[in-house]
Amino acid sequence: MNKNSIGYVSAPVSKEIDIVKSIKDLCKKKKAVILAHYYQDKSIQDIADYVGDSLALAQWAAKTNAGMIVVCGVHFMGETAKIICPDKKVLVPDLNAGCSLADSCPAYELEEFIKQYPGYKVISYVNTTAAVKALSDVVVTSTNARQIVESFPKDEKIIFGPDRNLGNYINSITGRNMVLWDGACHVHEQFSVEKMVELKKQYPESLVLAHPECKSTVLALADHVGSTASLLKYATESKCKTFIVATESGILHEMKKKNPDKLFILAPPNDSTCACNECNFMRLNTLEKLYNCLKFEMPEIFVDKELGKKALRPIQKMLDISAKLGL
Ligand code: 13P
Ligand code: SF4
Repeated sequence: MNKNSIGYVSAPVSKEIDIVKSIKDLCKKKKAVILAHYYQDKSIQDIADYVGDSLALAQWAAKTNAGMIVVCGVHFMGETAKIICPDKKVLVPDLNAGCSLADSCPAYELEEFIKQYPGYKVISYVNTTAAVKALSDVVVTSTNARQIVESFPKDEKIIFGPDRNLGNYINSITGRNMVLWDGACHVHEQFSVEKMVELKKQYPESLVLAHPECKSTVLALADHVGSTASLLKYATESKCKTFIVATESGILHEMKKKNPDKLFILAPPNDSTCACNECNFMRLNTLEKLYNCLKFEMPEIFVDKELGKKALRPIQKMLDISAKLGL
């Protein structure tokens, strides 16, 4: 077994073993639960105990009795679970699974930014590091951002970060004027408005579903804007049979599973030669790494105890508001 500098276990898995069965057996033996995000490869979604959006992953972490939590998602999702459950072992199959939004907002830069706006509340998207969460008054996900922003008085001065697209969208639907951090997701920024307009001409009966991390010009074309869970719910409840989907391609697995009679078309990226609809960070996790991670109980997420306590406050606030709102 070898290990790189941040702990990804790269032991090869023998072709002889039934990896799906072995993962299930290891979970049972170690009393572990697998939480997966909708952007994971379908092989991981299919084996997970729960598949959901960022809010659901945090909510499941908060209520599980399992002693070990394997988060199949990106680093901030594992870190959030660890902050919620400091006494549990939290694993992520590949610790290199970062996030361009979290990377765009280093805590020391945010701290300087906040100093320029005395008296402002700080609302942080969950796609941030523990250190950024620790500087925040409340954390939000795309499922509850609108309601949490609206829970502040109308004249409250607010800094929102790090996603400028989500921030702009929330400003536009709430009439707020939050000061925005200038970050963006490299997957959601790359959808081509021109190609989406062409697709819409080809499929005039289709509806456009978009994640709020997309640019405002893409959101302007959307019939429904929402978190991954919300896009899935909308597509499932709609009578429409064709959807153009502007978010990461992993969500199509559950969309197709729940709606085998409907057609889901990925919104085209600007660069048609890339696999831009896939989050390269999310896709670092594989079944092999999941197996190794359960077997060797690494790589593990660690959060400094004091930092974790500070970061828990705004996360707990988000969980409490969401529970009150039935989200
Ligand atoms: P959701 O919370 O909508 O699942 O989004 C997470 C994410 O990282 C989107 O890029
Ligand atoms: Fe981060 Fe974008 Fe990947 Fe979501 S899709 S995890 S925001 S890099």
